[in-house]
Parts: sequence; structure tokens; C-alpha cells
Amino acid sequence: MKTLATAKELREAIGNVKKTGQLLGFVPTMGALHSGHLSLVEECKKTCAICVVSIFVNPTQFNDKSDLKNYPRMPEQDLKKLEDAQVDFVFFPSEKEMYPEEDTRVFHFGVLETVMEGLHRPGHFNGVAQIVSKLFDIVQPDKAFFGEKDFQQLAIIKKMVKMLDLNVEVVPCATIREDDGLAMSSRNLLLTPENRKNAPRIRQLLLQAVERQHQATVQEVEKETVTALDAIENFKTDYFEIVHSDTLQPVTSWDEKGPKTACVAVYAGKIRLIDNIRFL
Ligand code: PAF
Repeated sequence: MKTLATAKELREAIGNVKKTGQLLGFVPTMGALHSGHLSLVEECKKTCAICVVSIFVNPTQFNDKSDLKNYPRMPEQDLKKLEDAQVDFVFFPSEKEMYPEEDTRVFHFGVLETVMEGLHRPGHFNGVAQIVSKLFDIVQPDKAFFGEKDFQQLAIIKKMVKMLDLNVEVVPCATIREDDGLAMSSRNLLLTPENRKNAPRIRQLLLQAVERQHQATVQEVEKETVTALDAIENFKTDYFEIVHSDTLQPVTSWDEKGPKTACVAVYAGKIRLIDNIRFL
């Protein structure tokens, strides 16, 4: 495994590999790696001869500066995990390397960004698009792997790839969960023991929402889920919405056609957790 800190070094290394015509897969991360990230690496290695992982806590996607400051960083453990997973290249740039100049680009994702995370974390997806477009430009991947836990991010990145006409296949990968059902997230490390104990309720309430389909209206299911989440000690729902899986627009009746997904963001104390579930 080679760890490179500059875009120049990575471009050179990858250029040599690309000449051989091998498929190159890319897993962008912000580090504090867990089994969810490693499952993306596994997926990547199934179809791509070369696997590149980036570790960069991207400041432009944090609308909350204390969230950025507290975001877990554990580079040594991360590199060890990636070495064990037989990753070929790790790109581990500094902030100066990624943003030698302020990135003033503004992306417009239309209705995809006016709901849920887009609404509750202003500027977040613009920052995600800034960094992912830069990383794609440096890595030039054939395929890029993203977790479905970040359901809206996936939709935004697919849209960005279309908008910028990039030659990269975006591969969605299933959410990996702890044994008790909690979706894996680097932020789980920041939960207090008490909030960690209660956090699997999020998944349980998502499953319950799916069960309640057709027994209650969409609005009733939304209301009862929020009430149940807010009843957990120290928990506060940021949003719970049942949306059309492709457009991310609110579902108002179960009769509406097409796949539907419930998306949730909850504060467990100060830590914001997200999850989602598809309706069958
Ligand atoms: O999902 C993440 O970890 C980040 O948003 C990403 C895609 C690595 C961009 O910083």
C-alpha cells in the first residue's frame, strides 16, 4: 500500500496504473474508519483491480464548526486497517493541498438539496460536491463507492456526475450495521454510553414505520415516529420524512407510485445521527 499526500504524487502513481488498462475503484472517506468503510473497500476490490481510498476531513461540508473540530481523527489506526484490507493507494492530503485557494464554486442541485440534510445543514452538499469533484479529478476513478446510509448524498453525487458529465460509475453500497441495528458511523464513537445504548431505537422505529404502512396515513406514521424518537432521553428529531426514493420529494399518500424511503436525522445529545429505510 502506498500512502501519498499530494495530488501530484497520486496523479503520477495512478497514471502509471491507468496505462495498464486496469479498472480503478475509489472509496472517498473522512477517516475514523469502521466496518462500513471497509465494506466499501471490499465492494471496490470485487470489481476493480486497483483500489484507492482517500482520507480527508473536508472542512467545507461542515456547517457546524464544533462538529468539524470534534470529528474523530485516528490516522494511524485508519492506515493499519487499509493496509490489512490490501488497499493499493491511500490519498491523505492536507487542507492546503485540497484547498490551495478558497473553493468558491457553487453547485445547484435543484429540489434534491432543498429537503432534509440540504435544508437542515445549509451549504453541506455544496461542500461535498466541491471535495468529491476535486477528488474525482485527481483520482480519475472508473467506479466510486458510497454508502447508502448517506442516502441524500448518494443522490447528490449521482446528479453531480451527470451535471459535470464525469466518466465515473457511482456504486451504492448497503448500510452496514452494528449487531444491535445501529447504522455504522464515525460519529457513533462520540456518543455517551447512555445515548449509545438508546441509539438502536432509531433503526427499530424505522422498521416500525415500515410495518405501519397501510395501517396509518403517511402523516400519522411521520408524527408517531417523531414522537417516539423525541421520547427517548436526550434525543431530539431533526427530521423524519418519507420521500420518493429518486426525487427525495415528500410522499403525501401511500398510493403515490414509485419506491419510497424514510429518512431520519436525530440528535443523540450533541451528536447527530442519520439513517434511512426503504419501503417495500
Ligand atoms: O461520506 C463522507 O464520508 C463524505 O461526505 C465524503 C463523501 C468522503 C466527502 O467528504
